[in-house]
Amino acid sequence: MNDLAGKHIVLGLTGGIACFKAAELCRALVKAGATVQVVMTAAAEHFITPVTMQALSNRPVYGSQWDAREPNNMPHINLSRAADAILIAPASADFMAKLLHGRADELLSLMCLARPMDTVPLIVAPAMNREMWANPATQRNVALLKADGILVLDVGQGDQACGETGDGRMLEADEILDDLIAFFTPKLLAGQRLLVTAGPTYEAIDPVRGITNLSSGKMGFAIARAAREAGAEVTLVAGPVSLPTPRGVTRINVKSARDMLGAVLSCVDQATVFVATAAVADWRPAIAADQKIKKDGSGDTPTLHFIENPDILATVAQSPRGQRGASGEPGGLYCVGFAAESHDLLAHATAKRLRKGVPLLVGNIGPATFGQDDNALLLVDAHGATEVPRAPKLELARRLIANIAQRTLGSGQKS
Ligand code: CTP
Repeated sequence: MNDLAGKHIVLGLTGGIACFKAAELCRALVKAGATVQVVMTAAAEHFITPVTMQALSNRPVYGSQWDAREPNNMPHINLSRAADAILIAPASADFMAKLLHGRADELLSLMCLARPMDTVPLIVAPAMNREMWANPATQRNVALLKADGILVLDVGQGDQACGETGDGRMLEADEILDDLIAFFTPKLLAGQRLLVTAGPTYEAIDPVRGITNLSSGKMGFAIARAAREAGAEVTLVAGPVSLPTPRGVTRINVKSARDMLGAVLSCVDQATVFVATAAVADWRPAIAADQKIKKDGSGDTPTLHFIENPDILATVAQSPRGQRGASGEPGGLYCVGFAAESHDLLAHATAKRLRKGVPLLVGNIGPATFGQDDNALLLVDAHGATEVPRAPKLELARRLIANIAQRTLGSGQKS
């Protein structure tokens, strides 16, 4: 998706082995619709050439404050005025120290100092050896840069080019891209805490077999991501799926419906909004055998008896906080249910909303969308139904989050 369409990003590179990731980042920014102007320090040019960065950004790279290409000979002014954001990736320990002291002895630091602070945000993605990162001087600088209004992204953890292992790696290109997209997203859910369930559940028959369903978890994961982009604190309770955790989201992995209920109940008191997208198994085998059930050679098949699983959404929605949320009272929990139906969507979704006791129920035609990347939704509330036309799941998730933000705005859900 063109998440950065219309954005002009000045991408600054400073000296560090993570410069190799800046090439991929540049490509990812362009692919997301941004225009990218690369500015490099002399140290960065030891690690990657301006030719590579020019080819990827499709623009000549700047490296000197004396660059005569600019008619007024002021690249530090012109480049910074044109930017929607300046992103320094990688940001070396030395460069962060320079930023902090307002030093400006080469183009990139000069441009950062000269940027209009109110309109051109500065974002840095640190990259350095773990000892350099842990050094109190660096940590002090990070704290002071943040206090100056500079957004300092997290660092990654793992194997480092120097052979050591620890904190200080630059985030991967796709992680920085996600953080940048989130940065530009209006914070409609600031102060809200979302709890989301996603994916299928798995109900054991014996230690090696079980019953599950075709839910991919994509919609719930997209909702968790969209909510985090919109400024919410997000906890995602996920059934067995192998999707990556969205940036900045706390994930709790569960297997069965009862595990999912336990995880939800352990954190629902802190939540202000609950979104149940999980395809929870309605029934589980009454007894899960301790040992693998074996064929006995007689040709007889085992008989399974089922019992009903707890209804997580109904349990939460019908709690006192869920009921207060439904009537918009302060301190309430706003609950959103999903309905995957095979036919008569409006009638089933309307009935299900009342049965579950939720103010908003999101209907979709289930079997056709399981595992797909796009979907169409029907939002059903006490006043009727609104269609959200077919679109990629992330786009639908963003629309749904904007809709939930509107519904909970000023209703006292925020705590
Ligand atoms: N749900 C839940 N716990 C369950 C079953 C469902 O939390 N044990 C939630 C789902 O996450 C979803 C909503 O309830 O938000 C609707 O689930 P669905 O399975 O479609 O509805 P059911 O209540 O099972 O009704 P039916 O099987 O008749 O369609």
